[in-house]
Amino acid sequence: MKKWKQKAIVQKIISYLPLSHKINYIFQKYVTKGVTLSDEYLFDRLGHARDHIKGYQKYSKKAIPAICLEIGTGWYPIVPISFFLVGADRIYSVDISLLTSKERLHTTLQKFVECEKLNQFKQYIDYLPNRYGIILNLLANYSSFSLDEVLQKLNITYLIEDSRKLSLPDNSIDLVNSNNTFEHIYPNILIPILKEFRRIVKKQDGVMSHFIDMSDHFAHFDNSINIYNFLQFSDKQWKWIDNSIQPQSRMRIYDYKQIYNDLNIPISEEIFRVGNLNELKEIRLAEKFANKPIEEIAKSHCHFISNMKAIV
Ligand SMILES: C[S@@+](CC[C@H](N)C(=O)[O-])C[C@H]1O[C@@H](n2cnc3c(N)ncnc32)[C@H](O)[C@@H]1O
Repeated sequence: MKKWKQKAIVQKIISYLPLSHKINYIFQKYVTKGVTLSDEYLFDRLGHARDHIKGYQKYSKKAIPAICLEIGTGWYPIVPISFFLVGADRIYSVDISLLTSKERLHTTLQKFVECEKLNQFKQYIDYLPNRYGIILNLLANYSSFSLDEVLQKLNITYLIEDSRKLSLPDNSIDLVNSNNTFEHIYPNILIPILKEFRRIVKKQDGVMSHFIDMSDHFAHFDNSINIYNFLQFSDKQWKWIDNSIQPQSRMRIYDYKQIYNDLNIPISEEIFRVGNLNELKEIRLAEKFANKPIEEIAKSHCHFISNMKAIV
């Protein structure tokens, strides 16, 4: 049996167990080796942080977003720490469960320092030396701080709550962002979340910036399949394969654009990867994908920036 199918079966079983996220972490750490903080992962997310800030500067005409909100913290909060380093006053990060830990935060901070020492950092983030100093001080006495104290020193507030109903006031956030998270949220949840973002983002000069990875995530783990493999299944079949720990909605770029359009959220800039038509042609597409333009189906990653000033 192919590796991705074995992983799908194990994750499906885990998803029915209590503490499923913890068990999944252990499974991914020791079996699939999918949770290591690799250089590739770090640089990818640093690139996201850089592009969020650039988008913010372009549309708000301000240098630094004072108040930021990220949805989907995950295991390693690279983007929130990057916002701290450039000078943000408050960074909220929302998740449905607390996946990070004091140990994983330590790993992340150490990785930032390694990166800085190798001079690889400045090309992504124009960080403030005093903020970097705070990280060095934290690491020097790391064991004496609790997770809450570490987060407090980094101006980060974790919100473990339903993103459809956030405990934040209207017009209070300068930059709303997400990183490789929307693809895990089905439209019945994503639509109310985007409505909530529209409520909390500042309408005067706020910006939204979302990175979406539309590739089949099982292909990141099993190189015998390509990034379009999951498009061969009907919705009914996919329901059996997909799991609630790391769901994949399989939405394509046109689905997201339709939602933005329906909610009257502007897409001021749309950046995407064209994907690989040859690989896509290897897959016998399920009907719901087969009758769409092949170039649209092939797009594998996208980044939407919204100037919320343009909201009517
Ligand atoms: C693949 S991880 C991405 C983590 C991180 N942003 C990154 O760049 O690697 C997706 C995250 O989104 C979170 N998530 C999924 N649905 C969510 C929702 N409705 N509200 C908040 N977070 C959600 C998951 O718990 C998970 O931590």
